[in-house]
Amino acid sequence: MKKKIFALGLAVCMAASLAACGGGSTAETTTGTDTAAASTEAPADDSKSEESSEGETESKAEEDAAASGELQTVTPGKLTVATSPDFAPYEFYAIGEDGTPTLAGFDIALAQYIADDLGLELEVVTVDFDGVLSELQTKSVDLGMAGLSPDPKRESIMAFSDLYYMGGQSLVTVKDKADMYNSFEAVNKPEVSVGAQIGSIQMDLAHANSPAADIVPLPKVTDIIAELLAGKMDAAYIETDVAKSYQKNYPELEIIMDVPYDQEGSSIGVCKGNEALLAAVNGSIAKAIEDGSMEKFITEANELASGEKYEGLLDESGQVQQ
Ligand code: ARG
Repeated sequence: MKKKIFALGLAVCMAASLAACGGGSTAETTTGTDTAAASTEAPADDSKSEESSEGETESKAEEDAAASGELQTVTPGKLTVATSPDFAPYEFYAIGEDGTPTLAGFDIALAQYIADDLGLELEVVTVDFDGVLSELQTKSVDLGMAGLSPDPKRESIMAFSDLYYMGGQSLVTVKDKADMYNSFEAVNKPEVSVGAQIGSIQMDLAHANSPAADIVPLPKVTDIIAELLAGKMDAAYIETDVAKSYQKNYPELEIIMDVPYDQEGSSIGVCKGNEALLAAVNGSIAKAIEDGSMEKFITEANELASGEKYEGLLDESGQVQQ
């Protein structure tokens, strides 16, 4: 059995330069129903030249697809999905027996299910969460599947699918500090550092509930957890089930309390203006819930995320950080 791999390598990440860790994206193509088969290689991106935007000439393949009533996607025949794999059990890297990191989580399993259901090949693009939002905004992907909250502020840049998962929000710290940071009041002081992921609704929660605190924006939830564990950050706003998942591997984490939030639940961000795709995605979600697949994906993701095979970050060459 492999030793447990602690992959929350913020220090390594920072030392290796920010460029290596943030912002960059890799594309992973999966085929068939094997969600564990994602490769971490970034394919050459020659498809972009054929992208159609209003006023531009559509490619022959797109015209044919439109004529036959097929779904229009950014790359014909493919379902391109952006995700941010710092968010177990939704999406994370699981380490296989051979030490290879594989994209896993119930968002990834659902993405594969939807692609199969729609007869498309799945291509997953991994970016930080704020990147998921901008990929949708620029219509570079068809879907954003990243435990995304249907926040009304995002309505101008994407459409939302029906909800496929219900989660809540929490204030999190570490066991040592749990007595000290046990209320909103306690985490609303300038000397208290409070983390939240850049672009997330948790950032809004931090501003709403801890406006006087030293709010620290970080690109990845795994960065936030690393900072909490290292004692460099006092508290953080994190989705409850995500905090619980990381807590299984890092029992020093302590969930202090629930944080009220209006837009509970996760939906899929759908490229704006693609009504047919939105309807198709909603159809697939309903099917996945009804035939028990969704429940199975959630159970499997939770098992994988709490075992020894568990990962948060890859280094710049797509390998596990040791
Ligand atoms: N639900 C939150 C939001 O939509 C956080 C999502 C973060 N997702 C992730 N994969 N890191 O803002």
